[in-house]
Amino acid sequence: MTNEATTVQSQALDPAHYREVMGHYPTGVAVVTATSADGEPLGMVVGTFTAVSLDPPLVAFMPTTTSGTFALMRDADAYCINVLAHDQLELCRTMAVPRPGKFDEVSWHLSDHGAPALDDAVARIHCRTHDVITAGDHYIVLCEVEGMEVSRPVTPLLFFQGGYGGFSSGGLSAKGDAGLIESVRLAEVGRAQAERVARTLGCETALLVAANDHELTTAVTAYGPNVPALEPLGVRVPLMPPLGEAYVAWSDDVVVDAWLRRASSQEPEVVEKYRRRLAAVRESGYAVSRQRELDHPRYSDLREAMREYAAGDLTPVRERAVRSVISQSSAFFETIEIQDGETYDLGAIVVPVLGREGRVALCLRASQLPGGADAETVRGWISTLEAAAAEIGEQLREPRRAEYAAFLQATPGDFMM
Ligand SMILES: Cc1cc2nc3c(=O)[nH]c(=O)nc-3n(C[C@H](O)[C@H](O)[C@H](O)COP(=O)(O)O)c2cc1C
Repeated sequence: MTNEATTVQSQALDPAHYREVMGHYPTGVAVVTATSADGEPLGMVVGTFTAVSLDPPLVAFMPTTTSGTFALMRDADAYCINVLAHDQLELCRTMAVPRPGKFDEVSWHLSDHGAPALDDAVARIHCRTHDVITAGDHYIVLCEVEGMEVSRPVTPLLFFQGGYGGFSSGGLSAKGDAGLIESVRLAEVGRAQAERVARTLGCETALLVAANDHELTTAVTAYGPNVPALEPLGVRVPLMPPLGEAYVAWSDDVVVDAWLRRASSQEPEVVEKYRRRLAAVRESGYAVSRQRELDHPRYSDLREAMREYAAGDLTPVRERAVRSVISQSSAFFETIEIQDGETYDLGAIVVPVLGREGRVALCLRASQLPGGADAETVRGWISTLEAAAAEIGEQLREPRRAEYAAFLQATPGDFMM
């Protein structure tokens, strides 16, 4: 046995060390409730709630053998295990105190199963005692599940190293702000051109810039006369198909592959379809989409998904749902070919702003364009946008342009390089 192993073994008997090591494992926070023999609501906070068996459905929690509250609820006919939400820390503190009357301060109702159910809990598990096993200074209370529900599908409260926190997804909704300020400063370089195009075309323009390696944000907006200011600034848009297509089209393989991997379907034909769309956008030099049917049910689903995404705090289940809605909206962003003799009601035209070494630095987008435009007019708009984008690009490529240098430095190594 090595010295290190000996140390670990002897220290394992030290209660402080046991707590310290176990503190590295996070737990959820639940309140176990029951009704006392004389009809009073009882509750205690546990970090030891766990699923045990599916068949039969069993769960467990572990009160200390000295818990006064558990002594009062031990003979109860029914327990309710209330999983606390990230915004219920006060409730947790109230319920963790061993004193009567604490239910006067919280919002609850008696469940059909006979135990107090806390309003606004994330989930509730209704159960009765199956077995109580003594395990050292704790009991393992095994319970049979009689009913269960998700009452509020939000992220849970977590307990870790003696402190409370929340869950943040490492996937779609992870927020990394390192490069955001530099990105916004970078977009400011193109403000004059964005304003000029908005005035000339009588539309809305926006400069889209990377907030981090998986999100774009609207950093600058401008409006022509009588064009309503609809686009909020700073809203994050996930870089996943079909969103950000015009941006990714001019990025290198690393960015393209990461974008494709975020598609909710990884079926080869779906991935290939997105690859072809990127190639088509790159080939034409711009992306043009038709006006969205604002009353289309899929479009309202998309708007709701984007709103939910921007609000953050998505549980993994909601994140997958939002991701799936976005993927299904690909038709709204399909880039179209401009053909003579046709008239167009366009949703948006997006052109890239290329910085140093032809790398995409920003996108310039025009939307709220006048309806019923013929092909020649649309081509004229595209040329105006392309000329403005070229001007912004030239400014960015000026040697030692401070904003661009800072932006490149703050952007993660494998992104846009
Ligand atoms: C985050 C957290 C987790 C807890 N987990 C447990 C637990 O698993 N078992 C336990 O007996 N007490 C646990 N407690 C303590 C009890 O909730 C609470 O302090 C106790 O029920 C009140 O004292 P009493 O049981 O002696 O009446 C926890 C407290 C907090 C704040």
